[in-house]
Amino acid sequence: MAVGVFDSGLGGLTVLDAVSKRLPEVPFVYFADSAHAPYGVRDADDIYNLTTAAVERLWEAGCDLVILACNTASAAALRRMQESWIPRDKRVLGVFVPLIEAMTERQWGDNSPPREVAVQHVALFATPATVRSRAFQRELAFRAIGVDVEAQACGGLVDAIEEGDMILAEALVRSHVDALKRKMPSPQAAILGCTHYPLMQETFQEALGEDVAVYSQANLVAESLADYLQRHPGMIGTGTTSRFLTTGDPRKVSGHATRFLRREITFEAA
Ligand code: DGL
Repeated sequence: MAVGVFDSGLGGLTVLDAVSKRLPEVPFVYFADSAHAPYGVRDADDIYNLTTAAVERLWEAGCDLVILACNTASAAALRRMQESWIPRDKRVLGVFVPLIEAMTERQWGDNSPPREVAVQHVALFATPATVRSRAFQRELAFRAIGVDVEAQACGGLVDAIEEGDMILAEALVRSHVDALKRKMPSPQAAILGCTHYPLMQETFQEALGEDVAVYSQANLVAESLADYLQRHPGMIGTGTTSRFLTTGDPRKVSGHATRFLRREITFEAA
């Protein structure tokens, strides 16, 4: 049995870490499409083609259930995949619905009509493709009314993180937060809408100020997955061991991953 976790690169490791802590008995196969990262600057067709190829590889590795631990793929490709591409015996789940449910004070899968919620001014930090898709605003509108969302596309940040250039990554976070604050001076909440960004969470929090509640996805996705597997135990596939696959250079990717998670991670060629 194994569950697949997909990201364009290393960001999904923030989700992998949380799901494997929450479900220690479940093996996970992680797929990093490092050769094609970042996805955030690609168009929707390109993101769809790359994401479907990666998901097929995870199915081959025995994962009937795949989590897209990538907001860009969830925003730009998931709906199209669910409409016409995923066979009946497989499932692919995205990462931002659990986050929006938490922000709008909802239980998992509560589909009641939209209502007023406590937060009214929300800053969204995400990749250019996620911001362009407006998927966050669409999902939010199904659940809440009167929430003002200001989105900031954080160009360059995923590349800096993938390259392990943390000095550049910090400078980019600060300048993107400044740009956001020029449009929305006092956000109440900030969403880190890219799974790479929790690796910079402290810098986001510092730049935004203590009063801003910063939401990131990892723990919320872990709870949702635990709940889903309890209701659908048959969706844990046939794979039996945890593995890390990459389309990039396994040595380089392993080095960066080990540094981020502060434990030894060994990637193999996908
Ligand atoms: N970490 C991904 C996300 O959550 C993808 C970033 C990228 O490849 O641009 O959006």
